[in-house]
Amino acid sequence: MTTAPDATIEVSPARAQIEYSRHLFGHFIEHFHRQVYGGIFEPGSPLADARGFRQDVLEALRELKVPNVRWPGGCFVSTYDWVHGIGPDRKPTFDPAWRVNDPNTFGTDEFIAWCEALGADPYICTNAGTGTPREMSEWLEYTNRPTGSRWADLRAEHGHPTPYGVPFWSIGNENYGDWELGAKTGAEWAAFVTESAKLMLRVDPDVKLLAAAFEDKDWILPLLEQAGRYLSYISIHGYWDKLHEVNRPTDYLGAMSKTLGPESQIALVRAMIEVSGQSHIKIAFDEWNLRGWHHPVGNTPEAIQARDLNDDNSTYTMADAIFSAAFLNSCLRNSDKVSMANLAPTVNTRGPLFVHETGVVRRTTFHVMQMYANLLGPRVIDSAVQSVPLDTGHGEVPLVDAVATGDDEGNIVLALVNKSADEAASVRVRVDGVALSGTYGATVLRGDNPDAFNDVENPDAVTPETTTVQFTDGTIQLPPHSITICTAPKASFAS
Ligand code: AHR
Repeated sequence: MTTAPDATIEVSPARAQIEYSRHLFGHFIEHFHRQVYGGIFEPGSPLADARGFRQDVLEALRELKVPNVRWPGGCFVSTYDWVHGIGPDRKPTFDPAWRVNDPNTFGTDEFIAWCEALGADPYICTNAGTGTPREMSEWLEYTNRPTGSRWADLRAEHGHPTPYGVPFWSIGNENYGDWELGAKTGAEWAAFVTESAKLMLRVDPDVKLLAAAFEDKDWILPLLEQAGRYLSYISIHGYWDKLHEVNRPTDYLGAMSKTLGPESQIALVRAMIEVSGQSHIKIAFDEWNLRGWHHPVGNTPEAIQARDLNDDNSTYTMADAIFSAAFLNSCLRNSDKVSMANLAPTVNTRGPLFVHETGVVRRTTFHVMQMYANLLGPRVIDSAVQSVPLDTGHGEVPLVDAVATGDDEGNIVLALVNKSADEAASVRVRVDGVALSGTYGATVLRGDNPDAFNDVENPDAVTPETTTVQFTDGTIQLPPHSITICTAPKASFAS
């Protein structure tokens, strides 16, 4: 008698196929610690070009086919005066959000030039803390309007006569939280977003507007009922291992216990959008990371110095990779509603790419982003996944997480995640009832143990393996703590 597989996947190409947005593989960078200064931007470095852009960083990030980058914050933006970051005479300003001085040498023009070098759409998050709708609209005029008006002419004076056409603009960042400078009540927020959006759309009616939100009906419903008609997305954030005050990263199974968080958050927000009647609104998970950034409160040198702990590469293990793959699968499963997700951040802090003086380290999550952005088909295929539970010690989660995508040739590309720390998982896959059989090309990320990581001295301890996988009577064996992306040729299941 054959033993039942740990998981089954019934893929139904004949049913729904949804073309998901490439913006699910987006990124976020903030003026925090060494993300911008000493990360992507390091004038004087032998690895930087004349503009100060680290070329090794750009080269690595190009491997991720980054569709958009959100900037400049995050909490930073809630007191940011964008005018300080343009023109020939940049003066440092004190940043009350992160209690350090910002040199302002990397501002709007540098950010847009950097996005162009990367091949990504710029996404600007505006200051809805101390800022005003007028300041937002003038920022938009500076970037997007043709010359002939004050701010667009100033852009031309700075050497950029052609409008930049920045497509994505968010009104505010987490203005619902007391930690945010310029926080607002739900009622204040709905009115503020409405007036900001009206003004910005007068400046450029073609921009896609987002607004800060979170899974609370008393915040989302007034926002959508009052401002929904002007918005394309609402923005939500998620950090599930909260390390802001105490830097004690959870272990592998602790991370696995958090893998259902994103999808339950999405389900809540979906339901609230439905109730609002604003069904055109999409979800942008425009800050996400398993690990919250470490930045204890206070202005003391010790509190500021503690941010260096984010740079400990041993922190980013297969736990981060498996969580990130499960997160992306959650977004793909909900890609009829989730149209953007931005990994927070893209460089240093908890990001997939660690930048040091003489080079970069591709952390485990870098390889997940690279595999998902390069190997999946462009459409999510309707599939039913059943899995035995994994007991994480902090509750049960499905052992196997899976998504099926389709490519233009009718092949099926599967993203299969085994969350077990120490055991292989058997998965039976059927496509329109036909059990997959055969040897297929695959890429597998696993590391040699669940706590494996990459570092400066050992940058390739965890790298994707190009290999083949064997389906026997529909069943494949997934290695422990692994992510497998494999392609089932159309001929193998279509009669
Ligand atoms: O920890 C970083 C912060 O997390 C971002 O600045 C903010 O948007 C979120 O609360």
